[in-house]
Amino acid sequence: MKRIGVLTSGGDGPGMNAAVRAVVRTATKHGISVVAYLDGYSGLVEGRTRELDDRAVGSQIQRGGTFIGTSRCAEFREPSGRAQAAAQLRADGSEGLVVIGGDGSFRGALLLQEEHGVAVTGLPGTIDNDVFGTDESIGFDTALNTAVEAIDRIRDTSESTGTLFFVEVMGRGSGALAMHVALAAGAAGILVPEEEHEMERVAGRIRSSISRGKRSHIIVVAEGEAAGGAFTVAESMAPLLGCPHRVAILGHVQRGGRPTARDRIIASMMGAQAVEALAAGRTGVMAGMSRGAVVEVPLTDVVAYAHAAANLDVLRLAQSLAG
Ligand code: F6P
Repeated sequence: MKRIGVLTSGGDGPGMNAAVRAVVRTATKHGISVVAYLDGYSGLVEGRTRELDDRAVGSQIQRGGTFIGTSRCAEFREPSGRAQAAAQLRADGSEGLVVIGGDGSFRGALLLQEEHGVAVTGLPGTIDNDVFGTDESIGFDTALNTAVEAIDRIRDTSESTGTLFFVEVMGRGSGALAMHVALAAGAAGILVPEEEHEMERVAGRIRSSISRGKRSHIIVVAEGEAAGGAFTVAESMAPLLGCPHRVAILGHVQRGGRPTARDRIIASMMGAQAVEALAAGRTGVMAGMSRGAVVEVPLTDVVAYAHAAANLDVLRLAQSLAG
C-alpha cells in the first residue's frame, strides 16, 4: 500500500486533529502517503483534497475541531455519490480510506467497501459516546469536562439565588454524555431518553430537598429526552417544583475547545491502529478502546448495533448520589 485517504465526518469533536496526526505519522512510517478529503464525504465526492505530510500535522494535537473540515453529506448516502467517491479514490491513487466519525459515517464507509472494494478502517469520533464497540469515542472526554465546568459555574448562580436550573446536554438520541455529566456535576436530577417517566420522581425529590433547606438544584436534561429539549421539560415540570427556574442550553460549546489529554491519547492510539490495520490488510474494522487497550471491531458489528446502549450503572449512581 502506497497511498491512503483520511476524512472526518459528521459532528466534529475535540481530538479529531490528534487522530489525523496519528494517521499521517503512522502512515509515513510505513512509507504510505496521505491525502485528506476536505469536509468529510463532500470533499471525497467533489474531489477537494489536501496532501498531508508529517509537517502538515504539526501543532495540531492541541487544537479543537477538525482542521480538514467535516460535514453530513447527503450525496454520499446515494449509490451514485458513492460511485463518484470510489472513482475519486481511484483517480487519486488512494488504496485505502480512514474514516473518523460516528456510526452513520461508518455505514457509508462499509457501503463503499461492499459496493466498490475500497479498503476502509474507522475511528469513533463523536462527543455522544454512542458508538458500539468502543468504551470511549474521540471528543467525549473533552465535552464531558466542558459541560461539567459550565455546570459548576451555573451552580454558583443557583446557590446564590435559589434558582433551579435545567441544563440541556448534547447527545442526540443517547443519554450517555448526560449521564456522565450528571454524575460528575453532582446533579439533583437527570432526565435521559433511556429512562421514561422520571419527571414526577425528580420533582418530588427536589421539593423534599427544598424543604430541608437546599438552595442549589441542577437537573441535567439530555437533548433527546423530549422534543423541544429542556424547554419542554421545564414547562412540564414547573408546576411540580416550588422554586424559580431557568433553562441553560450548553449546545455547541460542548463540541469545541482544546481536547483533554485523554482525548488526545485515545485519538493517537486509535489513529495509529487504524493505519496499522490497513497496512496489514485488515479492512472493514474500527479501532476502538476496550479496558484501556486498542481493539479492532468489525464495522459490520458497529453498524449492526448502532447507538450503543449507554452505561446504565452510571445513571443509577448519579441518581443514587443526588442530594
Ligand atoms: O453527534 C454530535 C452532535 O453534537 C449531537 O450531540 C447533536 O445532536 C448534533 O451533533 C448536532 O448536530 P449539528 O451541529 O449538525 O446541529
